[in-house]
Amino acid sequence: MDETAEFQDVLRLLGQGELSVEGRLVDASNATLYCTSTLDGVTATCVYKPVRGERPLWDFPDGTLAGREISAYLVSEASGWEVVPPTVLRDGPFGPGMCQLWVETDDTVDLGQLARSEHPDLRRMAVFDAVVNNADRKGGHLLPRPDGRVQGIDHGICFSAEDKLRTLLWQWRSDPLTEEAVFVLGLLRADLEGPLGEALSEHLTTTEVRRTVERVDHLLNTRRHPEPSPDWPAIPWPPF
Ligand SMILES: Nc1ncnc2c1ncn2[C@@H]1O[C@H](COP(=O)(O)OP(=O)(O)O)[C@@H](O)[C@H]1O
Ligand SMILES: [Mg+2]
Repeated sequence: MDETAEFQDVLRLLGQGELSVEGRLVDASNATLYCTSTLDGVTATCVYKPVRGERPLWDFPDGTLAGREISAYLVSEASGWEVVPPTVLRDGPFGPGMCQLWVETDDTVDLGQLARSEHPDLRRMAVFDAVVNNADRKGGHLLPRPDGRVQGIDHGICFSAEDKLRTLLWQWRSDPLTEEAVFVLGLLRADLEGPLGEALSEHLTTTEVRRTVERVDHLLNTRRHPEPSPDWPAIPWPPF
């Protein structure tokens, strides 16, 4: 099976499999459920966050946190950087919600050290977070995989129309963007005018989509990683 076929299969398995709740993740702030999804005898482990379990947030009044998680996944896919594990919106035992593939992690990795490291996946993630305006890139939202790749999770509070970038990944602040990042931002910019912009509009407000375009434009104009703003807390609390 080629990679694309496998990838489509994962999305189908997540989206159409029979979802069965195995447990609740205790360190989670919303109803975040550890599940399996089974289709045609194949089972995947996943996370299911029902919209019904979302705590209302005064600064994210529109749409759903699940819709923001899907939007982050769409941007991640459009970038080709695979920051976010495969994620779908679907119905489940507690109603509609987001369902995301469970990623096995290397538990020997020290998240504090990792978050301060120069890992190229984190450098890409820093650009991704600037695009999606991630307000919650804490240590526990980094998943170091056994193969050395690093992915990110918990994108429920992204895409605010107001600048809210809160992250541990400030090691590249004001550094020039890599050529690869500039190239990818150009792709995202074009995609936001077309299919990506349309797809995001299903989950975000018009203003939030427009602000996403403006953040990409700003990055392409400065060609630099952002700096922490003095106007809001630039580091998530708690940081892990
Ligand atoms: N896709 C995933 N793969 C592996 N572990 C995950 C995944 N999603 C969540 N987790 C684990 O569950 C915890 C809670 O998930 P998170 O998305 O942060 O939920 P919440 O929105 O409730 O904060 C994470 O800190 C992580 O340990
Ligand atoms: Mg979390």
